[in-house]
Amino acid sequence: MNNETVSVELGERSYDIVVGENLIQNSGNIIAPLLRRPRVVVISDSNVAPYYNNILADSLESEGISHESLVLPAGESTKSFKYFVELVDRILALGIERGTCLVALGGGVIGDLVGYVAASILRGIDFVQIPTSLLAQVDSSVGGKTGINTVHGKNLVGAFHQPRLVLCDVGVLDTLPERELKAGYAEVVKYGLIGDEKFFNWLECNGSKICEGDKVRRQRAVVRSCKAKAKIVAEDEQEAGRRALLNFGHTFGHALEAEAGFSDLLLHGEAVSIGMVMALTLSTKLGHCKSNTQVAARNHLRHVGLPVSTADRPSVNWDTEALLNHMAKDKKVSDGMMTFVLARGIGQAFLSRDVEREVLIEVLKSGGEL
Ligand code: NAD
Ligand code: GLY
Repeated sequence: MNNETVSVELGERSYDIVVGENLIQNSGNIIAPLLRRPRVVVISDSNVAPYYNNILADSLESEGISHESLVLPAGESTKSFKYFVELVDRILALGIERGTCLVALGGGVIGDLVGYVAASILRGIDFVQIPTSLLAQVDSSVGGKTGINTVHGKNLVGAFHQPRLVLCDVGVLDTLPERELKAGYAEVVKYGLIGDEKFFNWLECNGSKICEGDKVRRQRAVVRSCKAKAKIVAEDEQEAGRRALLNFGHTFGHALEAEAGFSDLLLHGEAVSIGMVMALTLSTKLGHCKSNTQVAARNHLRHVGLPVSTADRPSVNWDTEALLNHMAKDKKVSDGMMTFVLARGIGQAFLSRDVEREVLIEVLKSGGEL
């Protein structure tokens, strides 16, 4: 399988996303020409580091790139002020310069945190993303949204800071726990649902093989997803409009995650899966699309083993009022109004602020079912 490259076109901040196998083994060679100085600091988490730190270190070594490695605890709670401060201190203690590059080796937690540290430290230095979860390969590593969580909510402090390069090694998905892989797959389906019916149809036929480990299909899914995201980011880097389409299923999803206490009861991608079904149920009830759109999406997500309704997580007490409160606190609320991503059919998402509260309540009460 040959490597494939997707470009994110952002003028002087443009960069490549390279997708392929054995990329970590060859990363030194790919990263070297981009470095201002031959020195990097690799930041990883305690699950990812044992698998890939040495492979990356050997590759950097072979290109004469000096490198240090820092490992943080795995898990969402690392995306916090506490670890932001700790990481900044540890990196500064290494005596870095403006030309030093950070390398984020991990899932979306490490990518978001390291990106934000790179945006802040010495008023901004370069960073490279080596995303190791499917979610990070198809979504969080691309587009420059970086940040941390606060007690007031997720991702409320951060910056837009684009990486210099993204290396998506589909081989590393072999060590990703199956549940995490499927959660990431929900974001792949999202690209089909918002703007690419053909891709969705392809996923209907190939989704199971992607989840089971077929590398050719995995690469195709990652490339297609990255192309879709790169196009939207190039058009609307700072989410003045169109980029908000990428939040399809997320307004519902964030509320569900919050109600589940941001715990293992519901992973981000699982919340997005239910959230996308809810968004299509809402679109159907508002008369924007036919019910078969919701049915097709719901069936596919369920087929690969993703939750599609709150009934799939009976251990959480899903309180409609509480969910509405979480939705009202979403970062995307403006002038007190929520923005929803709705759809007219598969691949035909659009933004709307015109949603009757009664219909929204109906959807939340039904758990996503039509
Ligand atoms: P994560 O980083 O916590 O990774 C999930 C789990 O898988 C962790 O336990 C991690 O250690 C482990 N892991 C990752 N890669 C592995 C591998 N190859 N082998 C074995 N274990 C591996 O979570 P995630 O799902 O990757 O990302 C979620 C985060 O991404 C959230 O904080 C979310 O807010 C953020 N996000 C950001 C954006 C953005 O645009 N910046 C977009 C979507 C999501
Ligand atoms: N994950 C949404 C975005 O990058 O805009």
